Amino acid sequence: MSVPWLDHLLTIGVQPWLPRSVVVDEAVPENSTPPAAATTGAIDWDELAALVAGCERCELHRGRTQTVFGVGNRAARWMVIGEAPGAEEDKRGEPFVGRAGQLLDAMLAAIGLDRQQVYIANILKCRPPNNRDPRPEEVTCCAPYLQRQIELVAPELILAVGRIAAQNLLQVDTPIGRMRGQLFEYGPRRIPVIVTYHPAYLLRSPREKRKVWQDLLRARQLTQGIPV
Ligand code: URA
Repeated sequence: MSVPWLDHLLTIGVQPWLPRSVVVDEAVPENSTPPAAATTGAIDWDELAALVAGCERCELHRGRTQTVFGVGNRAARWMVIGEAPGAEEDKRGEPFVGRAGQLLDAMLAAIGLDRQQVYIANILKCRPPNNRDPRPEEVTCCAPYLQRQIELVAPELILAVGRIAAQNLLQVDTPIGRMRGQLFEYGPRRIPVIVTYHPAYLLRSPREKRKVWQDLLRARQLTQGIPV
């Protein structure tokens, strides 16, 4: 199967992270040499940011005010991954700046971190209309961007907030309640992934804050001894 934008990313050096249903190798005919640049590491932050800013790979580009790339310390020990921009994020071009973002900041502050220390990004870079769930094809289109962000940051730990982030990052359909408390790994570098509830969910269900606190302590424990 040949996917034009995918071929382009491979050519410029982005190793796409895709749901299992999209098989990257099939784009390369048998017995041929993969493109020389088809390695991770060939595309830098500026190139990646430019690709995202001009992205029109899925229909979401039509409704956006702007793309929401990611924010924070590009050499962070912790990376926080959420779902997709909401209205406020779409307006300001920065992830987690609305009410849920304020709660995320408070969650991080509770374990001694501020948002400048971590790197924050989403599964999707464009806002889905009416904050609906991302569609699989939108996730597939956006996935190489997040994958490259993770490679560039190379964090010690990923905190996946919410079901959409956790399931898409880890390519599972396990309910979030069962993912909490487990340790997952992402990618060839086997970056530890901790799953917790989304701050927007906590705004609706404040009683669950206790569980998030446990998850955060566990995440902090994992990186203990490593300054973040
Ligand atoms: N929710 C998310 O998952 N990400 C954002 O950037 C904002 C709200």
